[in-house]
Amino acid sequence: MSTIVAPSILSADFAHLADEIKKVTDAGAEYIHIDVMDGTFVPEITIGAPVVRSLRKFSDAVFDVHLMVEHPETQIKSFAEAGADIITFHVETARHPHRVIQQIHESGCKAGVALNPGTSLSMIEELLEDVEMALVMTVNPGYAGQKFIESQLGKIHMLYHMIDEMETECDIEVDGGINAKTSVLVRESGAKILVAGSAIYGAPDVARAIKDIRGKELHRHRHYEDDEEED
Ligand code: DX5
Ligand code: ZN
Repeated sequence: MSTIVAPSILSADFAHLADEIKKVTDAGAEYIHIDVMDGTFVPEITIGAPVVRSLRKFSDAVFDVHLMVEHPETQIKSFAEAGADIITFHVETARHPHRVIQQIHESGCKAGVALNPGTSLSMIEELLEDVEMALVMTVNPGYAGQKFIESQLGKIHMLYHMIDEMETECDIEVDGGINAKTSVLVRESGAKILVAGSAIYGAPDVARAIKDIRGKELHRHRHYEDDEEED
């Protein structure tokens, strides 16, 4: 299973976002993770659809939009039209999460559903067959540079098995406190898409940081116990 690295521009220099995106895609990153915060679901306000629209002109990378907003259904059309490829919303913010997924698909994007560290997997179980991605937060959403919450590893592992048993196509993304060390743990637990903000944008050598987070390719067999790293 090859790992996808998704640098979070929350840790980039907001005065030079187009250059900051080029820096990480030139260094091998496949996705650009865009953290959208509304000042209500999480304390800060960050990036809106107009910014995504401007950035779209400068990059062909996959734009992975992480909505940390209340009422996500009100934002989907704008972000899709602005050029998002994947739109992920938090299950904690949606009264009708299945309808939100339908809306995302109707807008032409892939759909992801996210859950906070304190939210049980059972909250997304009924949605897994309908999303392309499930995002397990390994910090409480809101800020870059927080400490990785180890208890989420069991959740990632369980989610991996749940998806495997359902025989559905759904990638596991992890977000929060990912660096060269924690990336090994989440990859071994079944994560495919690794978001990292401070560990990439704060690194002296961005290409090195991306390579370290990507790690060696895992040969994933049907059962987790059989996974092994390639030499
Ligand atoms: C946190 C955001 C993350 C954040 C990750 O709420 O969703 O994407 O940028 O930053 P690091 O990698 O520094 O924990
Ligand atoms: Zn994020």
